[in-house]
Amino acid sequence: MTSTRLEITRPDDWHLHLRDGDALGSVIGHTAQRFARAIVMPNLKPPVTTVAQAEDYRARIMTALPPGARFQPLMTLYLTEDTPVEEIARAKDSGSVFAVKYYPAGATTNSQSGVRELSRVYPVIEAMARHQLPLLLHGEVTDAQIDIFDRERVFIERHLMPLRERFPELRMVLEHITTRDAVDFVRAAPANVGATITAHHLLLNRNALFQGGIRPHNFCAPILKRETHRAALLQAATNGDAHFFLGTDSAPHIRAAKESDCGCAGVYTAHAAIELYAEAFEQAGKLDQLEAFASFHGADFYRLPRNQDRIVLERTAWTVPEEYPLAGATCKPMRAGESIAWSVVGHTAH
Ligand code: DOR
Ligand code: ZN
Repeated sequence: MTSTRLEITRPDDWHLHLRDGDALGSVIGHTAQRFARAIVMPNLKPPVTTVAQAEDYRARIMTALPPGARFQPLMTLYLTEDTPVEEIARAKDSGSVFAVKYYPAGATTNSQSGVRELSRVYPVIEAMARHQLPLLLHGEVTDAQIDIFDRERVFIERHLMPLRERFPELRMVLEHITTRDAVDFVRAAPANVGATITAHHLLLNRNALFQGGIRPHNFCAPILKRETHRAALLQAATNGDAHFFLGTDSAPHIRAAKESDCGCAGVYTAHAAIELYAEAFEQAGKLDQLEAFASFHGADFYRLPRNQDRIVLERTAWTVPEEYPLAGATCKPMRAGESIAWSVVGHTAH
């Protein structure tokens, strides 16, 4: 299918890092221009562990929105080994918290307060299953013995399969999946298991980490994998399977934090997120499937209404700036200085 104009239901981003303070103010506009809602990650310093903290954070996001923006942040709690069981009922009743995020301690940015031993949080997970509050998983083992490229596959074998067996009613999202193994696991699971897929994992394989030299701006967690895995992700995203939905994992860091002898993980894609997904879907010859992946499957999984308004994309190339402001410094976005084939040209209200 070749197409130069694409009008779809306004999409949502089911996995996003908005940060806080000045950084929040720098990035929120990019997401709000494109997405109606986003599941907001809680890995701030300190992490967002209670409903009260999530509601304060939500208020700061609303204040940071550009005038006139229509955007709804969907908050999450950061699961720790000290999370009280009662916090789950509070979250469910809050109307502002939609999920709980599991970070294995040490897996990625600000994950130090995460879970070391999954069995220690079984009572909390049991409450989540009972209250039907989704658990969002950063699915990587942190075992230094395990090769970094195998950490997602090993997590599925060691932790995810036993978790599914123990809590079959638990609603869960395997976040930012990067491997064929994850695709196979999720595809075979019932409808209470979903997965998000980022634009960068659909468009890049691990060669992008070493193109002519080391490329810190393509370093993210989970790390980019080999081409066969990218191809499996693209197939999963574009084949209409409702298990899979859009989650950018857009994760801004200032340049100095990435261009460093121990650079942070995270790719910034919020400036062009839906445009990058459009490129990936076009590459697969499946532009007609973009709407289901970007605008339907996630809302259905979270049992929220699909959006009523629409956005219009056009196949007009534009050049991404070399950098964007980020909290008094700058951030280098995906495709910096290069072109993106699709542009957002308009919105239609319902
Ligand atoms: O690349 C990543 N960056 N992966 C994560 O899991 C966290 C994120 C961040 O917060 O920077
Ligand atoms: Zn993330």
